Amino acid sequence: HGVFTYDPGFLSTASCPSAITYIDGEQGLLYYRGYPIEQLAEHSDFLEVAYLLMHGELPDADQRSNFTSTMMKHTMLHDQLTNVFRGFRRDAHPMAVMVGVVGSMSAFYEEVTDVRDPNNRLAAAYHLLAKVPTIAAWSYKYNIGEPFMYPQNHFNYAENFMQMMFATPCEKYEPNPILAKAFERILILHADHEQNASTSTVRLAGSSGANPFACVAAGIASLWGPAHGGANEATLKMLEEMGDVSRIGEFIKRAKDKSDSFRLMGFGHRVYRNMDPRASIMRETCHQVLDELGLHNDPMFKLALKLEQIALEDEYFVNRRLYPNVDFYSGIVMRAMGIPNSMFTAIFALARTAGWVAQWNEMNSDPEAKIGRPRQLYMGATRRDYVPMDGR
Ligand code: CMC
Repeated sequence: HGVFTYDPGFLSTASCPSAITYIDGEQGLLYYRGYPIEQLAEHSDFLEVAYLLMHGELPDADQRSNFTSTMMKHTMLHDQLTNVFRGFRRDAHPMAVMVGVVGSMSAFYEEVTDVRDPNNRLAAAYHLLAKVPTIAAWSYKYNIGEPFMYPQNHFNYAENFMQMMFATPCEKYEPNPILAKAFERILILHADHEQNASTSTVRLAGSSGANPFACVAAGIASLWGPAHGGANEATLKMLEEMGDVSRIGEFIKRAKDKSDSFRLMGFGHRVYRNMDPRASIMRETCHQVLDELGLHNDPMFKLALKLEQIALEDEYFVNRRLYPNVDFYSGIVMRAMGIPNSMFTAIFALARTAGWVAQWNEMNSDPEAKIGRPRQLYMGATRRDYVPMDGR
């Protein structure tokens, strides 16, 4: 029945056509809809980037204001959803809560789940984009035992998320424009990255016509792993464990040792064989945020800079073309903003929701798209007869 190729990890297989994100891994280039990531990080904001990813063009003034007000209208969660949160243990990881709560949205917003209708797809995408920040912030509030803070729609997207994380009924949140801008930048850098594991998961799940909320929950599950979005949390954990520049050599030695499964977290990438352009912007943002907060001497940042330098001079990393990736510096920025490690991947998820819904919609709008159905190389037993219990 035809010939198929074996390509473990999809090293050389394109799974779909896409007009959303372009990566040149050799040169370290990343464009969203043709716009270089550096320009978007400098001049744009997250909602505009989300619009661009979804619709293919930057919004004009009217489109932008309509999009922003639609987003703001949908930030609230159905009140029953608070009960879904309350079913979790208080110490549940925010990503565990997010997988569950986002998946449960299928049952709350059923009216938009017939994905054959483009209007429904848009509505589902907008529900997700608008509500995921509320879900992420509430997963943190629940974890630390504080009351849920409702969205305040006079804030922008980043500030609103920060206020849901950090305000309490007794204490208002005063946004710091430099930190809010840095946070927007983190979201822009994470918004899409073509067919990575979580996006491919969303596409594969959605290729059967499945409910979009369930598909994005599957994406969140895939993102959680330490080889993917979980690397930001793992990087900071590694730096904390390292503690001091005097231990860098020991960690590098372990990372190079093939009998040890340890890897340098925040290093290496399937596609980039050069500096991840997002990592350079993130390093720059790190400088800005630490300066703003008077933390120029932050020992964790110094440790990260030194680790980067030593690794990039090491033959092992040079030969394999392993460079810092987006996750290497993002944890340091978020930590300086007072965001706990356990929320790093949840924030990645809220940013990547923009890419997931854009990619999912692109697939569903493509009349040629087929259900994703990989083949396998069967390596198991050949035909044999059932053996009754007394014969085993
Ligand atoms: N530390 C030490 N060695 C490494 C590392 C690392 N971080 N990354 C790759 N290698 C080695 C690997 O052992 C292999 O060596 P050899 O050829 O001797 O067997 C070679 O480099 C190629 O690695 P690979 O595992 O075949 O490459 P991959 O494309 O399958 O994996 C990766 C890419 C990102 C999963 C991997 O580099 C890694 O595990 N990095 C650490 C986790 C991380 O930072 N992930 C975030 C990725 S970027 C953001 C995101 O996707 O969310």
